Amino acid sequence: MDQLVIAGGQPLTGEVEVSGAKNAALPILCASLLTARPLVVDNVPELRDVGTLLRLLGDMGVLVERAPRRVTLCAESLKEAVAPYEWVKTMRASILVLGPLLARFGRARVSLPGGCAIGERPVDLHIKGLQAMGARLEVTHGDLVGEAERLRGARIFMDKVTVTGTENLMMAATLAEGTTILENAAREPEVVDLAECLVAMGARIRGHGTDVLTIEGVPELSGATHRVMPDRIEAGTFLVAAAATGGEIRLSGARPRTLDAILDKLVEANASVECQGDQIRLRMRGPNHGVSLRTAPYPAFPTDMQAQFMAMNAVAQGTTVVTETIFENRFMHVQELRRMGANIEVEGNAAIIRGVPRLEGATVMATDLRASAGLVIAGLIAEGETVVDRIYHLDRGYEKLEEKFSCLGASMRRRVAGGNA
Ligand code: EPZ
Repeated sequence: MDQLVIAGGQPLTGEVEVSGAKNAALPILCASLLTARPLVVDNVPELRDVGTLLRLLGDMGVLVERAPRRVTLCAESLKEAVAPYEWVKTMRASILVLGPLLARFGRARVSLPGGCAIGERPVDLHIKGLQAMGARLEVTHGDLVGEAERLRGARIFMDKVTVTGTENLMMAATLAEGTTILENAAREPEVVDLAECLVAMGARIRGHGTDVLTIEGVPELSGATHRVMPDRIEAGTFLVAAAATGGEIRLSGARPRTLDAILDKLVEANASVECQGDQIRLRMRGPNHGVSLRTAPYPAFPTDMQAQFMAMNAVAQGTTVVTETIFENRFMHVQELRRMGANIEVEGNAAIIRGVPRLEGATVMATDLRASAGLVIAGLIAEGETVVDRIYHLDRGYEKLEEKFSCLGASMRRRVAGGNA
């Protein structure tokens, strides 16, 4: 397995471009199933998860044409409405084909996503909502098998805020008979980006960005061209890395208004942040104060930034508390940070971090996408060499990570498994 080799201790300085958002691109690519016309998607990041999804859609019979950062998809007819385990086990977001398949083709067989490192991650709310729209769904041999003559609009209250659950039901509702109301819907910017793509395809959606979505079904959708929003978590990751190393960086191609909670916490940690158009500049006003935080659905602090801030807090002045309220097992990076000298106690869903003067480089293991990002930041802070193992987790969600960090002055290189790099 590939590894990242990092020589830490240098402040990051320079400029880097933000890529398209993974968590917007994935549902938008699935929206191609809702129409027989071509869907052109721009600013698609080159990521492992995107590659996985495009192969899955291609296996179903969607015509997929890839150009640099642009994908054209056409689901005029399908070979099979099936998402097999081999794909779903590597990427849970494959569940996002379920709603579109039932809405347009009336049938679907999608392997039930198992749990993952950060938690059990059930899809009961996806199932419950689709059943409320008239789909018949049952689990047989580990697959979710669904049928529906034509989905019909329904009023659905989601008793947990679920990002992909909201996305699946919103996509299904675009072709349902009648109007669907989703209450307690997710407000994440990626949900809004998907909604804007669906509206461009002719869907009738109101309320995106709020917790009540109203979708009036239409007989069919047309093609469209949509540019994926910038990745707010990638942007946040670079900003935290700069703050944690006492550096000064500028991001371009960002969408600052989607990072409010992240920027607020960085300012609280003693960073100076300036936003102008699609640019975000960060430098430290003085020592890193660290910052306590509590993850929650958007617009509150995002769980996908929790590990990165914990790495910064590990060398902050004073004690901070990080509380994770979304996933039940999202502290896998704690024991790895401890191995680098961090002083962290975990009590239930709270981690108490007592800042230490320095971290020491070590060989650490990545366990999930964002925990890996936290370990990379720890490696950038630490004295000496850090080797992050199993970085295929990182490749799922960060485009050209070592190149981008090298542009910011980091000493970071990829050691290819079995190679002599
Ligand atoms: C999306 O996952 C993101 N993935 C995750 O990003 C992100 O961490 C998460 O939202 C929270 O913001 C994509 O968008 C592809 P949820 P999702 O459904 O939709 C519970 C990354 O690093 N729940 O919002 O799977 C669930 O267990 C990834 O890019 C149910 O109980 O998350 C969790 O506790 C990691 N039943 C909470 O809701 C359901 O049917 C929020 O999960 C669905 C969810």
